[in-house]
Amino acid sequence: MGIKIIGVGKSLPERIVTNDELSQYIDTNNEWIMERTGIAQRHVATTESSLDMAAAAAEEALQGVDKESVGLVIVATITPDHVTPAMAAEVKMAVGLPNAVAFDINAACSGFIYGLWLAESLMKTSTGAGSGEHGMKRALIIGSERLTRVTNWVDRGTCILFGDGAGAAVLENDPNERGILSTYIQNYDDVHDVIHCKANYINPPFWEDDLTPIPLYLRGREVFKFAVNSINEVTTGALVKVGLTLDDVDWFVPHQANGRIISAAAKKLGQPLEKFQISIDKSGNVSSATVPMALYDLKQTGKLKKGDIIAAMGFGGGLCAAGAVIEW
Ligand code: UT7
Repeated sequence: MGIKIIGVGKSLPERIVTNDELSQYIDTNNEWIMERTGIAQRHVATTESSLDMAAAAAEEALQGVDKESVGLVIVATITPDHVTPAMAAEVKMAVGLPNAVAFDINAACSGFIYGLWLAESLMKTSTGAGSGEHGMKRALIIGSERLTRVTNWVDRGTCILFGDGAGAAVLENDPNERGILSTYIQNYDDVHDVIHCKANYINPPFWEDDLTPIPLYLRGREVFKFAVNSINEVTTGALVKVGLTLDDVDWFVPHQANGRIISAAAKKLGQPLEKFQISIDKSGNVSSATVPMALYDLKQTGKLKKGDIIAAMGFGGGLCAAGAVIEW
């Protein structure tokens, strides 16, 4: 019995902000951003909510799928529109998935792969959830972010990195397929506080807290090193679990945080950059959405063939990291 990806979807907001446009607001320039990050532009949500993008990506991924057969919706996000209801519950209602249980997870930029890991486990073992005759035959996993609402727009070292968007995948439990071959999930203590973003709350009348919003903060160089090392660990870790080697991988689909991180990871893994899906130039870092969006882009190239081995990897705030080996 295998959990296979049977559909993918992607949604980006309409508004594109190029590096040149960004340089009208902050002291930066296209050359610096391209050279240090590989990002040429990002999409910024102006009218689109995180839910709008999640639902649009979901609809595309679900094309041709019986919606009654979807027993589980997981949305990975650090920028939901609401604390409650969960975005997954909103997607379930917006898309019309009557038999699904739905909840959100927060594992930052590794969120989509955490979602795969969780869904695989639930689809193989859960008998108590996912109502309807199909149980958890199919699941919908989404990464959706409106990061530009938590970005620090006066910090040129970070605001150049982020964008908005959503990616989605539909999983199916199929006894004749292999699908997800292994996952490798890791958490490290963020003792140096290299990535954080404060939640915004309201003061109760009984005591005063400092509720000044603090936007997304990161210590770029430290994150860069952590990223390259953790990609190495989770990729090799996931492959070892299933008896494969790096050379068996046809396509690497990494979290898109910085083009130089992807190049450095390719070098560390001893693999040609041509095997790595690079989507960061067009849409920047969209946290939990980048892995499914990059998977979508890889599929769109037409190069992905049935039976190909994909290694997907994420890393981010927490600190968390995750790898998945998938037979397409
Ligand atoms: O999803 C996980 C989240 N985060 C990440 O993945 C981030 C990982 N880290 C990175 O991508 C890189 O560290 C950054 C792109 C954030 C920064 O690149 P860097 O090569 O580490 O540059 P830096 O911060 O060390 O800055 C080098 C110089 C500084 O000038 P001085 O002090 O050398 O004169 C900065 O002030 O570049 C300057 N600088 C800029 N110049 C023009 C920083 N940002 C900019 C900018 N435009 N946007």
